Amino acid sequence: MTAPLIDPFARAITYLRLSVTDRCDFRCVYCMSENMTFLPKKELLTLEELDRMCSSFVNMGVKKLRITGGEPLVRRGIMTFFQSMTRHLESGALAELTLTTNGSQLEKYAQDLFDAGVRRINISMDTIDEQKFADITRWGRLPQVMRGIDAAQKAGLKIKINAVALKGFNEDELPTITEWCAERNMDLTWIEVMPMGDLGNEDRFGQYWSLKDVRKAYEDHYQVTDLAESTGGPARYVRLEQTGQKIGFITPMSHNFCESCNRVRLTCTGELYTCLGQEGMQDLRPAMRQHPDTDEALEQAIRAAIGLKPKGHDFDYSRQRADGQMSRHMSHTGG
Ligand code: GTP
Ligand code: 5AD
Ligand code: SF4
Repeated sequence: MTAPLIDPFARAITYLRLSVTDRCDFRCVYCMSENMTFLPKKELLTLEELDRMCSSFVNMGVKKLRITGGEPLVRRGIMTFFQSMTRHLESGALAELTLTTNGSQLEKYAQDLFDAGVRRINISMDTIDEQKFADITRWGRLPQVMRGIDAAQKAGLKIKINAVALKGFNEDELPTITEWCAERNMDLTWIEVMPMGDLGNEDRFGQYWSLKDVRKAYEDHYQVTDLAESTGGPARYVRLEQTGQKIGFITPMSHNFCESCNRVRLTCTGELYTCLGQEGMQDLRPAMRQHPDTDEALEQAIRAAIGLKPKGHDFDYSRQRADGQMSRHMSHTGG
């Protein structure tokens, strides 16, 4: 193994989020516009190239690999890729192989994911009301996702539900979503909505429901204990003593967590984004394609890119509007 990846702010980079496709079978209102133009298929890295990229990161000390999208499970042949990553779990080089999914394809793939070594998955779901689910995802249907959740649990996958906290949308569902997760033995993480994507007539500031308020809402109903544990992601966790369940809070807006950032994002075309909230990106494709027989140039390019990782994002709602906005859609880098 080569020297570990350390950025200019002395943060060790041990977590790679790989977006394997920009496509999705849903059109969540805060993530995509209804008429998205997707990349032509020939622009995508092949599954072999994705393997080469990830293997280089693993060789450079990445311990956690999360597959994202778009919706990762709509990429053709994706199970072959998961199966090829199993060897890094078996060798002990990789501590965790996981994914963030909308759940729509889990009925088909849950068992294969488990067999490839995936043990814990995150499912994005902002409501458990069928009509509201159809409204917010535009194209998604709740029963299909529910069947996916059943299949995942049957296969032995541990589930965490990710819900974007949205004022006037899922505020009233806090107790029902929480109880539903407790009944099904799933963890739950709330995420503050970030000003990303083509905002058009969307009002992110108006949708913003601070997790400080979400926490207060829990404190009104439960005894809440802070937990010190981390999953290597940005969430901070509490335990609800009455149910014993774990609730996570991802607070890019109300409490910046960039100082402990340990992650970078690789897109399906080989662009390395070193921060979710900044434009900075390096194209790793030339270094890989120009040197088919050795990964030396690729590893140098990765190291150089991480040498430019910025301190953090500039998202800010404190002036009662969405500042620090990113025009890039969340689906480009997979969140
Ligand atoms: P765990 O392994 O379960 O801790 O997952 P995770 O939180 O690392 O990954 P997940 O895909 O569930 O992330 C949930 C969401 O948190 C992402 O889609 C983003 O919206 C947000 N998020 C994750 N990392 C960052 C980050 O570095 N900066 C910001 N601003 N938001 C992030
Ligand atoms: N702000 C916060 N989270 C978002 N996600 C997508 N768009 C946004 C946004 N603007 C979340 C999804 C999913 C993950 C991939 O990113 O809900 O959990
Ligand atoms: Fe698809 Fe996830 Fe974006 Fe929704 S948030 S459109 S499920 S990528």
